[in-house]
Amino acid sequence: MALFKDILGAEETLFKNPVALDPDFMPKEIPYRENEQHYIADCIKPLFKKRNGRNLIVTGAPGIGKTAACKHILQDLEKETDEIYTIYVNCWNKNTTYKIILELCEALGYRFTQNKKTEELFGIVKGMLNKKSAVLVFDEIDKMEEFDFLYTFVEEIYRKTVVMITNYKEWITDLDQRIKSRLIPDTLEFKPYKPGEIRGILEQRMKAAFFDGIWQGEAFDIVVEKTAETGDVRTGLFLMREAGSAAEEESKRSITIEHVKKATSRMQGFSIKKDSELEESTKEILELVKSNPDMRIGELFKRYQKDGGALTYKSFQRRIQKLAENKFISVKKLMGGKDGTTTIVKPFEHKKLTEF
Ligand SMILES: Nc1ncnc2c1ncn2[C@@H]1O[C@H](COP(=O)(O)OP(=O)(O)O)[C@@H](O)[C@H]1O
Ligand SMILES: [Mg+2]
Repeated sequence: MALFKDILGAEETLFKNPVALDPDFMPKEIPYRENEQHYIADCIKPLFKKRNGRNLIVTGAPGIGKTAACKHILQDLEKETDEIYTIYVNCWNKNTTYKIILELCEALGYRFTQNKKTEELFGIVKGMLNKKSAVLVFDEIDKMEEFDFLYTFVEEIYRKTVVMITNYKEWITDLDQRIKSRLIPDTLEFKPYKPGEIRGILEQRMKAAFFDGIWQGEAFDIVVEKTAETGDVRTGLFLMREAGSAAEEESKRSITIEHVKKATSRMQGFSIKKDSELEESTKEILELVKSNPDMRIGELFKRYQKDGGALTYKSFQRRIQKLAENKFISVKKLMGGKDGTTTIVKPFEHKKLTEF
């Protein structure tokens, strides 16, 4: 009798390569985004003929392959030619012109940045980039607090394609007309994946991350279903990792529906960004929301001021909106109460995902 064949030994693991479940892991192929990748490639093509490229704004919901597709193109480009610099910057943490320029210096291998001002550094970057052509991808561009660098790039870098990625279509409408008329960007909208596509993507990651035959079909089906609900591929990556860990904790050799259920209940604390990555002032606002759940935004702002918060109401509102967009908190508009329309702010709960 093979009573113990299902038991995982202390040294054994279900994960062949857990890194493949990391949202930043780059798969070799980005299926289902061929058209989008061709579109972006077309914007870049003039650079091969030493002409200026087209600029592009990429939009679409979170977790649908915008970053992955753009990074994939940069990788392809690097293989193809040495004549085009490829630079990727995520503006989430690099939200000022100075930080962007520092990042570019690093990408270009320029190290003597100490005691140099933004303009001086930009001069150096410009000198380097203008020797060749450049594709510059600014991801999460909506997190930028300054846009001077865009003007400067557009005007002073001669042969380039600037790709700006954002989850928010409205960002384009809000973008300063002066920048728009200089950038004249194309827009490319990434549409949500269909459930079958989500399955394909998750299957690819599952095969890369786990040893063969570990996943029970029904268990994986639920992962696909839950991911299709949010539309965000990262949900599936999270669930697969957590379900795998849950099975390992029980020393099981296969991952079952029970493990996925456990994983789903852990979704509560899952958000797209880690709160450790938030800026200090935004983190404080998040804490404020957590300790005052279900409060009107106006009242919340009063508390914030009483605690010594320095932002204006408008900036405060903007932070609240950003926190909501990244699913740290949720906001609900109440129409026509005695105070007119107001917004109720509360910590985020993944209701749908924990309900089976
Ligand atoms: N078509 C795809 N093929 C393979 N992996 C994908 C695909 N689309 C998304 N992913 C994966 O899903 C996760 C989220 O994608 P990402 O590009 O970061 O989303 P976005 O930038 O749109 O928010 C990443 O781990 C990415 O590798
Ligand atoms: Mg992204």
